[in-house]
Amino acid sequence: MTMNDTGTKKPARRPRRRRAARPASKAPLTGNIILCGFMGCGKTSVGKRVAKLLDRQFCDLDNYIEQRTGMTVKEIFAQEGEEGFRAREAQAVEEVAAKKGLVIASGGGTVLSQKNVDSFHAHGGKILFLDVPVAALQERLKNDKKRPLLQRPDRREFIAQLWEKRCPLYRAAADLVIDGGAPAVVVAKRVAQRFQ
Ligand code: S3P
Repeated sequence: MTMNDTGTKKPARRPRRRRAARPASKAPLTGNIILCGFMGCGKTSVGKRVAKLLDRQFCDLDNYIEQRTGMTVKEIFAQEGEEGFRAREAQAVEEVAAKKGLVIASGGGTVLSQKNVDSFHAHGGKILFLDVPVAALQERLKNDKKRPLLQRPDRREFIAQLWEKRCPLYRAAADLVIDGGAPAVVVAKRVAQRFQ
């Protein structure tokens, strides 16, 4: 208690409580997370783990195309050429980009098309480039039998040339660059941290 001017007692004033700073918005991110990068950079293996960590659904774009068409990527390349595959890929991008809250593993060529990049961004998606050194990619891909573009005798040199050409385009498409030169569990944690 304290005395006021007129000598009457009045209760001591409680110190004014400062209102706590408002926490940053906790609204869940509904935009998709799209992983891009060269073949073998870990888009699928990292993507699956990121989806688990963030409790999101995972979508592998090549798988999506295979399910939609009933053909493997290899078969599409063989029957329709790369051009046919790219058209189907662009269609698949339109469809999955419009969904919400997915972790999407794109194909190694997906974000080389500005139209695909724009589709992802138009729906609030964030594109992440998994950056892996070319030597590691050459090693990871040396025995690959699945990827149509790599079934050639000069695979090592081809990978080096294609990587040089594509790297700046991955960077240009990406909202974030993630160091992908580590085991998938580690890279997945690096990615997930950015969205927690
Ligand atoms: C491609 C990469 C492949 C697949 C297709 C074309 C490319 O996906 O989409 O064979 O142009 O780099 P991955 O990067 O998952 O191997």
